Amino acid sequence: MVRETWGSRVGFVAASIGSAVGLGNIWMFPMRAGLYGGAAFLVPYLVLLFTVGVVGLTVEWTLGRSTKGGPIEAFAKALPGGKYLGILVNIIMIMIFAFYSLVLGWILRYFIATLTGELTKANPGAFFDALAFSKEALLWQFIVIAITIGIVAMGVQKGIERANKIMMPALFVLLIMLTIRSITLPNAYEGLKFYLLPDWSKMMSGKTWMIALSQMFFSLSVLGTTMVVYGSYLKESDDIPLSAIATAFGDTAVAVTAGFLIFPAVFSFGVEPTAGPGLVFVTLPMVFQKMPGGILFGMLFFLLLIFAGLSSTVSMLEVYVDSAITKLNMSRKNASVLLGLATFIVGAPSALSPSYFDWIANISTVYIGPLGALIAALALIRLGIEKAHEELRKGALIEVPEAWKPWVKYLYPIVIIVIYISQFVLG
Ligand code: PHE
Repeated sequence: MVRETWGSRVGFVAASIGSAVGLGNIWMFPMRAGLYGGAAFLVPYLVLLFTVGVVGLTVEWTLGRSTKGGPIEAFAKALPGGKYLGILVNIIMIMIFAFYSLVLGWILRYFIATLTGELTKANPGAFFDALAFSKEALLWQFIVIAITIGIVAMGVQKGIERANKIMMPALFVLLIMLTIRSITLPNAYEGLKFYLLPDWSKMMSGKTWMIALSQMFFSLSVLGTTMVVYGSYLKESDDIPLSAIATAFGDTAVAVTAGFLIFPAVFSFGVEPTAGPGLVFVTLPMVFQKMPGGILFGMLFFLLLIFAGLSSTVSMLEVYVDSAITKLNMSRKNASVLLGLATFIVGAPSALSPSYFDWIANISTVYIGPLGALIAALALIRLGIEKAHEELRKGALIEVPEAWKPWVKYLYPIVIIVIYISQFVLG
């Protein structure tokens, strides 16, 4: 069977930015920046982005392109027991999609509630409590999975690439419009102060660097899964280094801008910013109720989140749909439907039980997820770093420095191991 490929370079970069830009950027990044030193958080984040993040993208895309396969194929070619490691990261991807689809389901419900005017009348805290872990949430989670199945079933070019080429430009336009509105509100300055006022002392703490690192890996979708598969659809004429820079830049620009959108609005209306899910689901709806034109602002904000989220969920489902197509000889349509439904079965309990939600989210993103990036790097190293460097240079406009080789062989895995261990040690 002939492996599918991207239709164009622009389509590939749109899909990669689409995968990277997600809920991680819009509600996790700004909150963490606010908590871990404001503008000072940008220093570790950007340093790590350019030293490890961009390198991580080149590692996974090169591995995918050179082995022409997803993680099962790629790890099996390189490592003893690699097939099972590949299966493991596929399972991790199912778990991530399982809880992510619940959160995106809440967002879908909020979008509808802004349209119908329900959110204008409701108490946002009570609205969220009634929705979050309920039978109704199950329905919205199912709708998110169904839409994702629909896009993935249409294929790499006609489904994923086309959807991203529509959603990504729309996302950027929405983001810019909403941000301009937010920073021109009265007292916007207070929000900017909260978000950006640098606390240089936080920059000196190891914890801040660890948070910046794990945030960055999750945000770039570098977990040995999606980016390996997306890389396997590349042609030799495609430019990996430039695409890595573009994706890292696009992802970070959205994350940083999201803070400019959220905090000025929150502070302008004197609402207390809260951490975690509360920020998007409770604080911001309160802001929309007070703000002139808040209904429209809220509607567009949730639409922005829907585009960001769906372009990420398609990149999750694609990982194991591709495995089923190549390893089990399933048709793309059957694989998308069956595996989408299987994800719903794994995810459904998270809609009913907060402790299951926490468990599945932590196992997949904190405890096992980062190891996927490490396995991908080890696989590439085992296949031969010289060969990998050659592969990376194919189609590349810019010269890839020789230092890339020792960087990938030593620095990159060491950094991952250090983050992995210290997040448990530092708590
Ligand atoms: N990068 C996505 C986000 O920030 C999440 C994601 C992780 C997507 C891993 C695909 C693979 O929301």
